[in-house]
Amino acid sequence: MSSVFQSAVVDAMQHKVNADRSALEQVLSREVFAEAHNAITAWPGYSPTPLHALSALSQHCGVAAIHYKDEGPRFDLGSFKALGGAYAAQQLLQRELSFRLGKDVELNDIAAGNYREQAADIHIVTATDGNHGRSVAWGCQLFGASCHIYIHAEVSQGRADAMAAYGASIARVDGNYDASVRAAQKAADENQWFVVSDTSYEGYTQVPTQVMAGYGVLAVETVEALGDDVPTHLFLQGGVGGMAASIAARLFQTWGDSTPRILIVEPDLADCLYQSATAGCLTEVHIEEETLMAGLSCGDPSMLAWQVLEACATDFLRMPDSLVGPSMWRMANPLGGDASIVAGESAIPGIACLLAAAEQPALAQSIGLDQSSRVLIIGSEGATDPEIYQQLIATAGGET
Ligand SMILES: Cc1ncc(COP(=O)(O)O)c(C=O)c1O
Repeated sequence: MSSVFQSAVVDAMQHKVNADRSALEQVLSREVFAEAHNAITAWPGYSPTPLHALSALSQHCGVAAIHYKDEGPRFDLGSFKALGGAYAAQQLLQRELSFRLGKDVELNDIAAGNYREQAADIHIVTATDGNHGRSVAWGCQLFGASCHIYIHAEVSQGRADAMAAYGASIARVDGNYDASVRAAQKAADENQWFVVSDTSYEGYTQVPTQVMAGYGVLAVETVEALGDDVPTHLFLQGGVGGMAASIAARLFQTWGDSTPRILIVEPDLADCLYQSATAGCLTEVHIEEETLMAGLSCGDPSMLAWQVLEACATDFLRMPDSLVGPSMWRMANPLGGDASIVAGESAIPGIACLLAAAEQPALAQSIGLDQSSRVLIIGSEGATDPEIYQQLIATAGGET
């Protein structure tokens, strides 16, 4: 019987990168990463997320090693996004409180809740498909600021409820993600609120730079856990590209020329980075249908993220939604003695590509996977919507 991994079409294109990697440091400097690292590791409840070695899966896939960084337990928020939005909110509060109070306000004092009363008058707004908004809402609750979240028609009720649980007001708008971005901006303009977005564009770079700097924490933890065991391949899933750009930029600062081959994977329903690589410039795509990988359903790359990725990503892949459920099921029902892992929809692209490459030699060859490959996967979320997670696992059980 042919498996879904054997028949699925995963497109892979190679991308020539410029030898000059200065764009990486220009977008995300060592100082910006270090400041974020100092602040975030001082938050209450901080601890590194696990890095799992999946040896039975690596045997199945015909590679030497697979390491899976599991962001499910991150600050009890379910995804790596906990690191970015909340940190950018903390930075924004520092700037605004310093201005309003006429003195230098310290980041750590904001995290300790010492400015909750004054912060309550500062309103932060964002558009989200779930995880970024949860991070911003959680940060605002921690620091005492007021939070407003705009979501689009397709965002699940489970994800909306999770944000409301942190005290944010939720507004649902008709249309797709772009419509929610416009609504958030309009509300900000009308009410003098502050936008904390995870994507950058001409004239809006400070906040998204800090969001990306926050994600760098997970790269540092991964480097520390791997020690000398530097991988050959790094799979990074892309929405607007912020996570991928941050991790790539931070890893280059440690590993330099030994940095692994960087493979960007997107849903074929939202392949804006793949299309940008094909066109050789930042390219927007129109999303016709929402992918199951809700966090990756983005049609417009982040300007800063693209500057980083075009300088360092060597491969761009796009994969169908048909691989999502079966790959999640495989992680929950592992081979051999591997750990059972709760991997959410947007965590799965790297695993899905590996499982497809295990059954499609041409794909494995095109991305340079062989018995000597040591692969690093960023499992960016756990079950951020438990109901959707259970449905996908239940349906997929018989499909692999
Ligand atoms: C779980 C998860 N993984 C990956 C991503 C992609 O991140 P980015 O949009 O920065 O590329 C997102 C974005 O929301 C996400 O929620």
